[in-house]
Amino acid sequence: MSVTSVSPAPGSTAGAPGYDRADWASAFRNVGVELEAVELTATRGAIPAELAGTLYRNGPGRLERGGQWVHHPFDGDGMIMALGFGAGAVSLRNRFVRTEGWLAEEKAGKYVYRGVFGTQKPGGAVANAFDLRLKNIANTHVVRLGDQLLALWEAAEPHALDPHTLETHGITLLDGVLKKGEAFSAHPRFDPGHHGPERMVTFGVKAGPTSTVRVMEFAAAEDAARGVRAGQLVAEQRHSFKGFAFLHDFAITPNWAVFLQNAVAFNPLPFVLGQKGAAQCLASKPGEAGQFWLVPRPGAGAAAGAGGAGRGSAAAAKPVLVEAPEGFVFHHLNAFEDPQSGELVIDSIYYDDFPSIGPDTDYREIDFETIPAGRLQRCRIDLATVAAHQKANQKANQQANEKVKVTVEVLEERCCEFGMVNPNQQGLPARYAWMAVAGRERGNDPLQAIEKLDLVSGERRVWSAAPRGFVSEPVMVPHPAASSEDQGWVLVPVWNGARCGSDLVILDAADLSECAVIELPLAIPYGLHGSWAAS
Ligand code: CO
Repeated sequence: MSVTSVSPAPGSTAGAPGYDRADWASAFRNVGVELEAVELTATRGAIPAELAGTLYRNGPGRLERGGQWVHHPFDGDGMIMALGFGAGAVSLRNRFVRTEGWLAEEKAGKYVYRGVFGTQKPGGAVANAFDLRLKNIANTHVVRLGDQLLALWEAAEPHALDPHTLETHGITLLDGVLKKGEAFSAHPRFDPGHHGPERMVTFGVKAGPTSTVRVMEFAAAEDAARGVRAGQLVAEQRHSFKGFAFLHDFAITPNWAVFLQNAVAFNPLPFVLGQKGAAQCLASKPGEAGQFWLVPRPGAGAAAGAGGAGRGSAAAAKPVLVEAPEGFVFHHLNAFEDPQSGELVIDSIYYDDFPSIGPDTDYREIDFETIPAGRLQRCRIDLATVAAHQKANQKANQQANEKVKVTVEVLEERCCEFGMVNPNQQGLPARYAWMAVAGRERGNDPLQAIEKLDLVSGERRVWSAAPRGFVSEPVMVPHPAASSEDQGWVLVPVWNGARCGSDLVILDAADLSECAVIELPLAIPYGLHGSWAAS
C-alpha cells in the first residue's frame, strides 16, 4: 500500500491491470457470522484518539442460498456493520437486517422472492412470471436520524434499527410521513445548516409515464427552542415530471434540490413475464440527453449565500428544467452556488452508458474493459439565464429550457466512484473531494485506490491498496477541532485478497498517509454506502 502525489497529467500511460481477478472475485461470498461488541486493535499504526463516533456501513451480506447465487450483488440482503471508535479503541458489531424477505428465505433455505437486479426464484420464467412483489432488502445505505438508525433501500420504506445493538425494529413509516410501501431514497443529503439547524433532505419517486418526486426535509437534531424533535418532517413538496424517472441520488444547495433525470426508457414486459429483474428492464436512449430538474427548496428565500436568480418566494416557485450533458449518472459529488459567477454547479460521476449486466452474464466474470468507466464532471448552470427564461418552455414540467446556459468540464478522467466532500461543506463550495478510483490512471478496473482531489488547483493525491486490496466507498470524517477543510480522516473498507478478509483502513484526510489498518474478523462482500455518526 502506498501514497503517491500525482500532478494533473492527462494522457499518461494506462499500463497493464495491476490486480488478479481471483483476488477481486474472492470478495463475493456470504457473511457467515454476526458479532457483538468485539474489541479490536490496529494491526498496523494507531487509531487516532480524537476519532470518536460510529462508522455504519451497509451492503449485500448474503449472495447465495441453497446453492443459487444472486444474479447481481445488489440483490444481496442488507447487512450492517458498526465500528465504534473512542479513546483510540474500536469495537465491532455486525447484523443482518431482519427484513420480511430475509426471514422467509432463512426459513425456506432458498430464494422465495425475485430480486430487482435479476435474481429469479428457482423454477424458471414460469415460477417468476406475474410475481411483481418487491423484496425490500434494506441493503443500500444506513444513516442516523435522531435516535433511530435507518437501513435504506430506495424502492420502499426504510427499516428502523437500534443504533447500538443493530437489532431490527422493522419497517418504519417515520411517524406517518410515509404511506405503506412508499419509495424512500437511499441517498439522503445532510444539510449542515443552510437554513438554521441541521436537516436531512431526501426524496421518494413514484415512477411511471409521468413521475412524481416528493422532496422531504427532516430535522436532524432536536430544536427545543422551536419545539422540533429530531427526525420530525419540517418541509416537503411534490412535483410531477413527464417520463419514467430513474433517480438514485440527488444533490442540494441552500436554494435548490438538484436531480439529474437520465435519458432512460423502462419496458416492464420482460419483468412481468418473469424473464428479467425490474432494473434490467431499464435501457438508455442513445442520442437523447438527460435533464436537470432543479427544485427550489422551501424556506430558501431566507438562505445565506449567493445566487440571486431563483431566490425569493422559493416555496411557491416551480421547478426549472435544464438540458444535461450526455451520459448516465448514479452519484453526485456535491452541488453549490458559485458566489463569484452566480452559477449553480453540480459535480457528478458520468458513465457513457447505463452499465447493466445481461441475463446470461455472471457478474463474477465481468470483463471490466467492456463496461463504461466513471469520470467526474462539473456542470455549471447559469442562474441568470434561468431567471431570464424561467417562464419559457416550462409547460407541465416537460421540456428542458434550451436557453439556459450550461457548461461542462471534466474534473477527473481516472475511473472513479463514491465521491464525497467534507460533510460541513455539503451544498456549499468545497475545496476537496475524496473518492474511490481504479488502480490504473486510465481504463476501467476495479476500485483499488482512494484519491484526494483539490477541486480548485486540480492537484491529486492517491493512496492505493493495489495489487491485492480493493476498496469500497470512503467516508470522510472531519476532525472535531478542525481548522482546515481537509483536517480529519478517511475511513475505507478494503477487501484484502491476500488473506480473504475485510480491513478497515484509516487515512489522514489531508495527505492520505496511513494512520491505522484494522484487520476485521469478517469477510464482507463489496459494500454500498456508509455514514459517520459522531458521539
Ligand atoms: Co448509491
